[in-house]
Amino acid sequence: MNSNDAPADPYLVGLDLRGRRVVVVGAGTVVQRRLPVLLAAGADIHVVAPEATPAVESTPCIVWHRRAYASGDLLGAWYVLAATNDPTVNAAVVAEAEVQRTFCVRADLAREGTAVTPATFATDGLQVGVLASGDHRRSAAVRDAVRSVLTGGTGGGAEAAARKPEGVALVGGGPGDPDLITVRGRSLLGLADVVVADRLAPPRLLAELAPGVEVIDAAKVPYGRAMAQQAINQVLIDRAREGKFVVRLKGGDPYVFGRGFEELEALAEAGIPVTVVPGITSSIAAPSAAGIPVTHRGVTHEFVVVSGHVAPGHPDSLVDWDALGRLRGTVVVLMAVERLGVIADALMAGGRSADTPAAVVESATTGGQRTVRGTLASIAADAAAAEVKPPRSSLWVPWLALRACRRDCDFRVESGRRRPLDPCCGLHERA
Ligand SMILES: C[S@@+](CC[C@H](N)C(=O)[O-])C[C@H]1O[C@@H](n2cnc3c(N)ncnc32)[C@H](O)[C@@H]1O
Repeated sequence: MNSNDAPADPYLVGLDLRGRRVVVVGAGTVVQRRLPVLLAAGADIHVVAPEATPAVESTPCIVWHRRAYASGDLLGAWYVLAATNDPTVNAAVVAEAEVQRTFCVRADLAREGTAVTPATFATDGLQVGVLASGDHRRSAAVRDAVRSVLTGGTGGGAEAAARKPEGVALVGGGPGDPDLITVRGRSLLGLADVVVADRLAPPRLLAELAPGVEVIDAAKVPYGRAMAQQAINQVLIDRAREGKFVVRLKGGDPYVFGRGFEELEALAEAGIPVTVVPGITSSIAAPSAAGIPVTHRGVTHEFVVVSGHVAPGHPDSLVDWDALGRLRGTVVVLMAVERLGVIADALMAGGRSADTPAAVVESATTGGQRTVRGTLASIAADAAAAEVKPPRSSLWVPWLALRACRRDCDFRVESGRRRPLDPCCGLHERA
């Protein structure tokens, strides 16, 4: 609602939102994409919406007011985002913000707001934002080209657009840090008309998408639970048949407990071209981020990645836990947090010593990364005491753990014996 009718370029500015109240009205996919960026800025986020996508609902550190917007909700806000699917509500939010002189982005009609969201990315302590007079595709393309140059790519955003792929790309998004997707994955994401994202897909990658991109939360695709995979396959097929380029974005690698091959089979059967872009799997990246290499010369010559989704002894289990208990190398167990005790028991019953070092890493490579260390005998209780939460958590059971310390400490190889933690960094035990 500019009082001045002459068009003017918005004034680009960086807001210090640390601890400041930000009110977000609506809780759909647009909001899902903005929340990680607002959280990274340290904002005190209040979401007002009667319903939310599963990703918004499970976002930590936000306050969700589970009801419709009402006048007065913006009181004390420094910044407001109007992002409901009802234009009347969005207009009312903008009007209230205007009266109290709070800048407000209107997601459905950007020019009616008093602030606009640039196409952004963050890398290596740098933040870049691009505005292009409301031309979102242009701002996204320029942003991608700048990012490509800064991250050592070719800067070929325009070139890439000219060879826009068809069909569906199954893209591994990496373990969580948006910089840990591959260059190819990121460039295909920048060309997508539709993104079908899993809960474990790095949320900040979604925040970078142009506003016109349709984001489908795979957890919210309708149909019953048992039919969920079939329904996701169908969405991929339907959107591709509409001539849209679809990116199916997954956490880690699409083929590591990611059902990627099931989707590829369904798409191939439907005659849809498929591109598969491998990703950095959390099964290697998460221990690495916690200072635990999965192999080390002279220490461990094997590592095994196992699903802990089904408990040892369950009739559906396909894992030979006794054999894993006899192995000497590193065992990486994904989807294990709710079954840590029975998994550790099974490994010990198979022959692993009770004092084998074990670690649980939560939300590796994200701002919320935590590592809980213990032994095979203690790890379930240690993780419970630390209130480690699924789904972004994995268990590592190295036979001998090699732990990397800060620059001023040495790398050390440790045996299974427990020693007090060294105060220098808490990563290795005192010699
Ligand atoms: C369904 S599996 C998908 C694995 C994924 N395709 C991959 O390659 O990393 C999900 C499990 O991966 C693990 N996981 C994924 N991201 C993680 C992270 N950032 N930190 C720790 N564990 C993670 C957790 O054990 C989670 O339960």
